[in-house]
Amino acid sequence: MLVLGLETSCDETGLGLYHSDRGLLGHTLHSQVGLHAPHGGVVPELASRDHLRRTVPLLRELLDQTGTGLSQLDGIAYTAGPGLIGALLVGSSIGRSLAFALGIPAVGVHHMEAHLLSPLLDPASRPHFPFLALLVSGGHTLLVQVDGLGQYTILGESVDDAAGEAFDKTAKLLGLPYPGGPALAALAQDGRSDRFTLPRPMTAKPGLDFSFSGLKTQVRLLIEAHPQPQHRADIARAFEDAVVDTLLIKCRRALAQTGLGALVVAGGVSANRHLRTALDSAAASDGFAVHYPPPELCTDNGAMVAFAGCLRLQAGERAPSDCGARARWPL
Ligand code: KG4
Ligand code: ZN
Repeated sequence: MLVLGLETSCDETGLGLYHSDRGLLGHTLHSQVGLHAPHGGVVPELASRDHLRRTVPLLRELLDQTGTGLSQLDGIAYTAGPGLIGALLVGSSIGRSLAFALGIPAVGVHHMEAHLLSPLLDPASRPHFPFLALLVSGGHTLLVQVDGLGQYTILGESVDDAAGEAFDKTAKLLGLPYPGGPALAALAQDGRSDRFTLPRPMTAKPGLDFSFSGLKTQVRLLIEAHPQPQHRADIARAFEDAVVDTLLIKCRRALAQTGLGALVVAGGVSANRHLRTALDSAAASDGFAVHYPPPELCTDNGAMVAFAGCLRLQAGERAPSDCGARARWPL
């Protein structure tokens, strides 16, 4: 089965082609970073218009690059939510229209499910169900027990800001340009761990929920107390250490609680090098396996949507008769 995936939930237009036997054939991506940067964040209206402008040229490029004809497609998957509603409607309208014209099925995919399954894209290091998933993106921080496709038990989630959102907001406080997460991580590389220490929120009591919004306030206080530019890298480092350590503590706790032996980490923040180093060394010392998507598939992309959609279509799922786009949609 050959499936085209369309991702348009936020500020990346991503298309991917996944074949159930041959794996990922290719993917194309356009980031809207340059479009939103002057505004300091994503402007929904601009995002929708840009998805509309980019999707068909990116589809042409993907078909050329993989030597695929539209008539070879067996199904189309699009991100149906959660995300910016106008942006989601672009992917769902194009995906559903194309599927109608080609006489093939369409399916709406949950964006976080697509992230969650993305480490399974690599057949060489594919984890087996069941496993624990840590999903860390700009909109979500979730610890999920994954027993199979669609069999998800939420063990913990953020009660306020998502991990990526905390990175982005803290980066803004530090005067870093949008998108803040990668910029903060780069600045933290030059910082020292032993200068400042920030709390590890919600780790003192039992439980698997997260809270990252308080860290922002702590960072603001640190910046006010140490306004000189030479302290910024150390403050960034203290923030990154606190987030990474908190995520690590909760992953260890969830693995112990569930008895699961494999951890899958996905979503934009899974690109963070410091997080990967910490999880890799915990995996080596505690004896669990850890899986990540390839670095270029950590942030939003169409490959993960094509893959999740292929699994859903193979399971017999089809898009509902309405547009199926949902700004809010629990996993
Ligand atoms: O998964 P994603 O592309 O979009 C959502 O579904 O939200 O995640 C984007 C988030 C942003 O908050 C971004 O700052 C963060 O992932 N991010 C990072 C890194 N790369 C992306 N955060 C920390 N370190 C990174 N290297
Ligand atoms: Zn995402």
